[in-house]
Amino acid sequence: MNRGIKIGLITFGILVFSLLGIGLGGWFYLKSKLFDFESEYSENSEFQAISSEGYTFLDRNGNGKLDVYEDSRRSTNERVEDLLAQMTIEEKIHLLKGSGMGSALGMTEPGKGIPGAAGVIVPTPRLGIPTIYLSDGPAGLRIEPSRENDPKKYYATAFPIATLLASTWNTDLVESVGDAMGEEALEYGVDVILGPGANIQRHPFNGRNFEYFSEDPLLTGFIGAAIVNGIESNGVGTSVKHFVANNQETKRNNNDVIVSDRAMREIYLKGFELIVRKSQPWTIMSSYNYVNGTYTSESKELLTDILRGDWGFQGVVMTDWFGGADAPAQIKAGNDLLEPGTKFQWDALLAAYEKGDLTIGEIDTAVRRILKLIIESRKMEGYNFSNEPDLTAHAAITQESASEGMVLLKNENTLPLLEGNNIALIGVTSYDFIAGGTGSGDVNEAYTISLEQGLINSGFEINAEAKAIYESHKNANPEEFIKPEGMNAMFQPYNPPQIEYTIDQLNNVASVADAAVLTIGRNSGEGGDRRELDDFLLTSTEKEMLKNTVEAFHQQDKKVIVVLNIGGVIETSSWKDQPDAILLAWQGGQEGGNSAANILSGKVNPSGKLPMTFPINVSDHASHKNFPLGGGSLSPTDFLSSGKVVPEEEKIRNEDYTVYEEGIYVGYRHFDKTDIPVSYPFGFGLSYTDFEFGDLDLIMENDTITIATTVKNIGQTTGKEVVQVYVSNLGTTIDRPVKELKGFSKTQNLSPDQVEEILIQIPVSELRYWDETKSTWVLESGTYTFQVGTSSRDIKLKAELEL
Ligand code: BGC
Repeated sequence: MNRGIKIGLITFGILVFSLLGIGLGGWFYLKSKLFDFESEYSENSEFQAISSEGYTFLDRNGNGKLDVYEDSRRSTNERVEDLLAQMTIEEKIHLLKGSGMGSALGMTEPGKGIPGAAGVIVPTPRLGIPTIYLSDGPAGLRIEPSRENDPKKYYATAFPIATLLASTWNTDLVESVGDAMGEEALEYGVDVILGPGANIQRHPFNGRNFEYFSEDPLLTGFIGAAIVNGIESNGVGTSVKHFVANNQETKRNNNDVIVSDRAMREIYLKGFELIVRKSQPWTIMSSYNYVNGTYTSESKELLTDILRGDWGFQGVVMTDWFGGADAPAQIKAGNDLLEPGTKFQWDALLAAYEKGDLTIGEIDTAVRRILKLIIESRKMEGYNFSNEPDLTAHAAITQESASEGMVLLKNENTLPLLEGNNIALIGVTSYDFIAGGTGSGDVNEAYTISLEQGLINSGFEINAEAKAIYESHKNANPEEFIKPEGMNAMFQPYNPPQIEYTIDQLNNVASVADAAVLTIGRNSGEGGDRRELDDFLLTSTEKEMLKNTVEAFHQQDKKVIVVLNIGGVIETSSWKDQPDAILLAWQGGQEGGNSAANILSGKVNPSGKLPMTFPINVSDHASHKNFPLGGGSLSPTDFLSSGKVVPEEEKIRNEDYTVYEEGIYVGYRHFDKTDIPVSYPFGFGLSYTDFEFGDLDLIMENDTITIATTVKNIGQTTGKEVVQVYVSNLGTTIDRPVKELKGFSKTQNLSPDQVEEILIQIPVSELRYWDETKSTWVLESGTYTFQVGTSSRDIKLKAELEL
């Protein structure tokens, strides 16, 4: 062999070996730091029973006697203190961080753990303290449906997205949804659900808006508290997230939110505050971003002074996954638990303790809170979960709540459709309905009912010509119709291409069908923000499809209904005149198609109301000047980029930092103050019946104002209405919104002529504003106007009160 070739081959060989070595070394290094560093601490669950005074308990530490912490008759406090006293400092520090990413990536030993659960609170085997499982998320459990060597499927219910639940404005119903979510978690062995999300929808382009409730903090707080109460009634915890001001995905791990104290208190913190006060959740999840220069997970002001000091939060604060940069600083600030946990954090905590930077007092404070959660969990009680949640009952509540949260935006003598009609389904999403958003808010459900299936179930005929066009389009683009799963779905929302119909095709369909239902779909999620072109705005294909469908059907005197299967706001004003009816179906979970069909068929009378404004132009939002507009996705490495320091002069506006110049003027607070026309106002939604409001009375008693009125169904169809109370102080000497939602109530299902008395209570303290000069809430004296209506722009009754 030629000497040159020989040297070349040897060099190549060495290179390949070195790369392999580096690769393997790198993998083992990462594994030992991120995935698998808990070998000394595997869970111990074999305990002897121990009896005392006729009761039986578990001898968790195997010392042959009943310890205080093992005795469930003792108070949580006594049990926690006993445990704390028995723990070594190593065990305490060990408890402050999770066990790594292994479980989230499904890397659990067959038969052990819960594959797909995003994290854990680690066990303490010497004392028999169990593992606590933490799993996403806001629209249902995100666990792996398949397990190694196990033929069983562990499907979870895809409940409606949070935005849809808020659109119900029905706290009792949302509490029942929470109850079902909690039961499902309990029976799958999950102890804490990582949700709900309570961030404010500051701008329509946030890719995660579907996980959040509203642009309004009161609606966020009331709906959020209902879901927490429902879930926690099962003895399962929640993690209300992402605390706080995590309003964009772009550069979220390093984005610094520059915001006034007033906007924080009145808007971004307010929803969380209401949830804490009304439901005292087990945990709160701090967010990735900085607020005014400090990571939220390292902010003592947020986590200790405000959350615990001002609001009385009693639970655990955990980080978002890999959030923040300085583990000891997080514990000191009041962020008790670091998730999913890394070996780096473990080492940093030990080192800080040894150096005296992290005191035993600070460690004990965090450990106590975590122990309280463990002691109060069903796991500690020895609950034997079945892995058989009642998926049928959960599908039923999903269908019911999704039907109630869908919003009828337009209806010109079109809906409900006549049973038996031949319906032409136009657009890919009609056949491939989107259940929910992507990323950690995704759910691995067993099925999703499409609009097609839903309409069939409701007794409609599906137009065969239109269906054939869809089928041939799908067959021509097989790759693009493959749904990404798991981690892939996080970075790649499923958006199959739209059909380009010819005029002939549509004319042909219109000649056979009785009506057309055209669906516009959008899908977004964690890891990316949306953008204007081809997302907020309809694409050119969609515009053509709509225009041509309407023309073809109107020529034959037939109606066109648009169904919006979306997770966030889109532009509607340029095209809303064209169709005869518009149903905002949101993403209704796995029963979405049945729920939409319930509305289209009239089986359910729509009663959903918008939890945010639909603007004419996205730039009408005051926040638009300060929001990243480029869209795009985070890369997998961005997930681990917390703490990356960008030199001041290289910082990019709206990426490295975002200035909330609009202050408190988010959503309708801005539109109504500046009187900007909107496409659909906050609180808006039509019904198949009409309602009449009676007189308005304001009764002041014990620092609470009661708003009393009546609602009468004056139409022909049974239905529900939402009574909304907006308050203002027009004589104010400071800059205040002209309307702020301060209370609401949803009626029962009123039959024609039925009247319901409405009483809405508003504590006077809720009329205060945050005074930045005094750093406190202040109640202005003066005349307050109470406006009662069915949207922020449809006020039916007004009354004044002197305070
Ligand atoms: C998300 C959280 C989620 C966590 C665990 C993070 O990337 O921001 O909302 O709960 O992952 O999956």
